[in-house]
Amino acid sequence: MLINKSKHTKYFLLLLLIAVLNACGESPKQDPADFGNKKKNVNPGELSPFEMENGIGPVKQKLTLSPINPELVKKGEKIFETKCGACHKLDEKYVGPAQRDVINRRSPEFILNMMLNPEANYQRHPEIKKLLGEYLTQMPNQNLTFDEAKAILEYFRQVVNEKQ
Ligand code: HEC
Repeated sequence: MLINKSKHTKYFLLLLLIAVLNACGESPKQDPADFGNKKKNVNPGELSPFEMENGIGPVKQKLTLSPINPELVKKGEKIFETKCGACHKLDEKYVGPAQRDVINRRSPEFILNMMLNPEANYQRHPEIKKLLGEYLTQMPNQNLTFDEAKAILEYFRQVVNEKQ
């Protein structure tokens, strides 16, 4: 009985030793899946390439935009004036950046994500963080519906063409 036990203990110790040696041997190698993650994390703020280009928010894939709809432009202009005009002008820097050219600076998906989820962008997106550093005001969430945000986007798509 006693002998048996010590046999088992030896066995156990041997297995433990093998396990430890194995673990030591493995540690410098990296799981290819981990490596993939590490690579992604090289991105500033650990954003995905899609988020880098299109901002962080509810829009997670590229949209197909229809030709500009004048009705929607009008609706967007009104919402812009009431909900954004306190901070944004079309042609001058104000509390926030001028917006006439925004469609040239940012993808449509980015503009929607910024309108619908400004907090995540000024906290995590390197370019919007930079803007926050410059303007020193956190853009507040205006609780727009997706349709309202789409209307403002339509307005931005229109005003860039009206540039003098
Ligand atoms: C209280 C002021 C304020 C209000 C209201 C506001 N913004 Fe902003 N906005 C800012 C500031 C400041 C920034 C720069 C980023 C930051 O500091 O958060 C910004 C950034 C942006 C950007 C992104 C970057 C760029 O290149 O210009 C967009 C797009 C934008 N605002 C659109 C809007 C729209 C559309 C509305 C209305 C629904 C709105 N904002 C309401 C202050 C405001």
